Amino acid sequence: MLHSLRLSNGLATYCNRYIKTHKYMLERDAGFPIIPNMLSGFYGLLDIFRFLMVMKRIMIGHLDIMKGIGVANTSLAFVSGKLLALCESDLPYIVNLTQQGDIETLGRWDFDKKLLSNMTAHPKVDMETKETFAFSWSFTFPHLTFFRIDEKGVKHNEVPIFSMHKPSLIHDFALTKSFAIFHETQLIFSLAKVLTGRGFNAAHIINPWENGTEEIVFVASNVKTVKDFLFNRKLGIVLGKEKKTRYAYLGVLDETPKTSGLVKIDLETGNEVGRRFYGLGCFGGEPFFVRRNSDEDVECEEDDGFVMTYVHNEHTDETIFLLMDAQSPEFTTIAAVKLPRRVPYGFHGLFLTN
Ligand SMILES: [Fe+2]
Repeated sequence: MLHSLRLSNGLATYCNRYIKTHKYMLERDAGFPIIPNMLSGFYGLLDIFRFLMVMKRIMIGHLDIMKGIGVANTSLAFVSGKLLALCESDLPYIVNLTQQGDIETLGRWDFDKKLLSNMTAHPKVDMETKETFAFSWSFTFPHLTFFRIDEKGVKHNEVPIFSMHKPSLIHDFALTKSFAIFHETQLIFSLAKVLTGRGFNAAHIINPWENGTEEIVFVASNVKTVKDFLFNRKLGIVLGKEKKTRYAYLGVLDETPKTSGLVKIDLETGNEVGRRFYGLGCFGGEPFFVRRNSDEDVECEEDDGFVMTYVHNEHTDETIFLLMDAQSPEFTTIAAVKLPRRVPYGFHGLFLTN
């Protein structure tokens, strides 16, 4: 389900709609779940039975796997003029937000049949060239392929990454001026290392940049536990920016997947320079930074803008959209909008201007 809040002329319009994926339409018409969620849908024997039934349906031709078997509930991206709802278990779904504040699913985007299986939920847009870089993941070799989508939305040839010898869950990647960096996590190969906090297991990248020709800075939160892997402490800083950034805004993880507050870290000094907790029984989602001036060409201080999130009060059962001043050390409230429905914790969001 996608939740949206449209802010226009001093009014807020809230909407939620299911993204009409092939899986959703199939199951809505059938009236019961058919395809288990490939990333998080295996909880017991029933799901394994369901998976075996799906395999049987595919083999006898009752289920066309090419129409998609995944969901679109992990993240959003604005790629080549299209708003995409994404999950790495399927292709992107194109979404339209109407002037009235409604959400419409326009369809599954296979880039004129140039992409057959899946695409990352975290593509990176080059703000200068407007190109998008993304990857596909596969159980079979090659396990990773990297590709480029140009400004007009044309997907270019895939580059197979042959150095990845076994499938590893890669959720995000880093992009600098010259490099695309994929970090192989140890969730599959070395579960013990993840459980004990050893190794580098970044689920999300905060930002990378090149320091001259000799050094690449790669800022990411390191995952200590499997729980962290699924919902790690994380950021709202401009993803895929490929420029040096000074500040990171991180949600403070309380009980998975709830964030009890947020902090602002100065990456030059390593110091915490901002902090806010939402209060007793109040938990937020991912904090998201948005510049005050949406024109990227206008010079301004990096943190001149807002941090926004949804906060739910478990005592009163009320959810608010919270807009905070990013430069204030206390993240003072600029605006708060009470919503008619609860927005659940977790997953990603996006802010768009008209
Ligand atoms: Fe993510």
